[in-house]
Amino acid sequence: MQIALDLLVWMLMLALSGKAADENSLSAVIRSFGSFVVLFLRSNGYLHRGGHPDRFGSGGGADFVMPVPEAYGLPGSLTDYLPDPFEPVDRWFQARNASNVRTTVRIVQDLCPGADLFVDPLAGGGSSACAARLLGVSFFGLELDPVLACVSLAKSTATARHARADPLWRVTPDQDDPVASCLDVTRRLSAGTDRPVSRADMLDDLERNAPAPTLPLVLWADATQPDVWDELHAEARHAVLYTSPPFGLSSPRPQASPELYADAVTALASAEAARAESGPAKFASYEELAADVVVNAARRLGHVTAVLEHEPADDGSDARESTVRLLLDSLGNRVKSLRILECGAYSRRGMFSLIVCEVVP
Ligand SMILES: C[S@@+](CC[C@H](N)C(=O)[O-])C[C@H]1O[C@@H](n2cnc3c(N)ncnc32)[C@H](O)[C@@H]1O
Repeated sequence: MQIALDLLVWMLMLALSGKAADENSLSAVIRSFGSFVVLFLRSNGYLHRGGHPDRFGSGGGADFVMPVPEAYGLPGSLTDYLPDPFEPVDRWFQARNASNVRTTVRIVQDLCPGADLFVDPLAGGGSSACAARLLGVSFFGLELDPVLACVSLAKSTATARHARADPLWRVTPDQDDPVASCLDVTRRLSAGTDRPVSRADMLDDLERNAPAPTLPLVLWADATQPDVWDELHAEARHAVLYTSPPFGLSSPRPQASPELYADAVTALASAEAARAESGPAKFASYEELAADVVVNAARRLGHVTAVLEHEPADDGSDARESTVRLLLDSLGNRVKSLRILECGAYSRRGMFSLIVCEVVP
């Protein structure tokens, strides 16, 4: 009875707010409805949001035993977990392992309210770049794959001017606009997928999407190398590092043609964003990569909240405990809190969790 009443009130509120009409989208209604059901079940104790602060015991000077925050942004359904194919800008290219932009925004708002810098050292196809754009905060991204680095650079930096500039729409050796060239690489990459975007789609998204207030910085770089972090000149009061390290060595990568790869390298060089060598990328293990990037960020930034997505690898191995231990060993007393928030199982790999580590000066 109570459930029926609550649902009725919610539907009435939705109708009054005109949300469905404004967004002109059935999927928005379905998503809102799904979120409501999850919130309802949670607040009535039927569904427990994860949070196991002292799962691995305490030590190393860190206080593990923290209350679980009211983090309603944690994905509560498959729709919140998967990338949204209609999300403006992000839809230009989405890897299979990409994150959902709106969920990332909500997680950052919940776990790191007031963050004034968004860092993603494993920027991939740019879902974090889009989230930073929506949050209106500066973005610093690193990515080892040049084609994906181009995509992240385009998603974080492009404005309608770049998408309109006809003569700039090619990669040539005599330096076209590098952002327009990265847009072009992105469009050509999407042409090989089942959801190709046109230049008109890109222009449409950019005309409706405010550019970042401060110029983002995206580099084609190996994030485990401390020197590339020296380029992060941030006077951030509180930074959020949100990232998704590859869950296993077989993590999927885009199959770009040699020509597209070469054009991406050229575009990045003319954007002065190239800090890596061409050639097949070698990936470190989840825990080494995760700990390296948090330690490198902490070296440059005073107050940083790191949020690391985690899923078991293909072979079922779980890197959460080893990551927590590495973070504590490397950062010691700078770790103010460390939590693991279990969100749910959305893929055949198993439980999707967020490792949340707050590092203070
Ligand atoms: C799971 S993906 C990130 C997904 C991303 N959120 C998106 O929207 O596509 C992880 C990325 O880390 C990158 N990567 C792996 N090792 C790296 C390293 N040492 N430095 C920089 N990037 C790295 C991979 O190329 C891959 O694109």
